[in-house]
Amino acid sequence: MNSMHNDIEAVFIDEARLQERIIEISSQINKDYAGKVPVVIGILKGGFLFLSDLVRAISLPLEVDFMAISSYGSGTTSSGIVKIRKDIDVDILGRDVIIVEDIVDSGLSMEYIKDYIWKHKPASVRTCVLLDKPEAHKIDLDIDYVGFEISNEFVVGYGLDYAELYRNLPYIGILKEECYT
Ligand code: IMP
Ligand code: MG
Repeated sequence: MNSMHNDIEAVFIDEARLQERIIEISSQINKDYAGKVPVVIGILKGGFLFLSDLVRAISLPLEVDFMAISSYGSGTTSSGIVKIRKDIDVDILGRDVIIVEDIVDSGLSMEYIKDYIWKHKPASVRTCVLLDKPEAHKIDLDIDYVGFEISNEFVVGYGLDYAELYRNLPYIGILKEECYT
């Protein structure tokens, strides 16, 4: 069987650790947004698994929406050019928005998304990312909820891709050298 697991050099964050951390973040969100009905905006495609596990662990009433942007092409370095592929549908005027993204690398995508969301005049905007690479930031960026801070290396799985593959790995892993083309 041509299993994608064979392409993984090492498991970086396993499923149990991911779920444990997601429970911690959701508890914090439950407290921070008590009495509110936030709008959780998932950034496609990378954030889809994180968002689905996260919202199921939050007990507040909330709305879910999605935005799709492209910033990377299929390589492993940031272009800095962000394009909206799918806009939000929910009216976020006066709402409390939580942006959910897979990873912050240079920070350029998140900064763009945050500015874009603020233009719709929400009451508040917070950012929630599964992974953060602080050493890779090209701008000053405050992230409100961070799953894991990681070193500056390329990871795949649990939503994150390399050339559109590996998003369905249930863990975060590092690819074998020979799998980069
Ligand atoms: P930034 O604009 O440089 O912060 O890039 C953020 C986007 O690049 C993320 O939403 C991912 O789609 C992608 N990205 C950055 N680092 C990685 C990685 O290690 N693996 C997979 N995708 C990544
Ligand atoms: Mg992304």
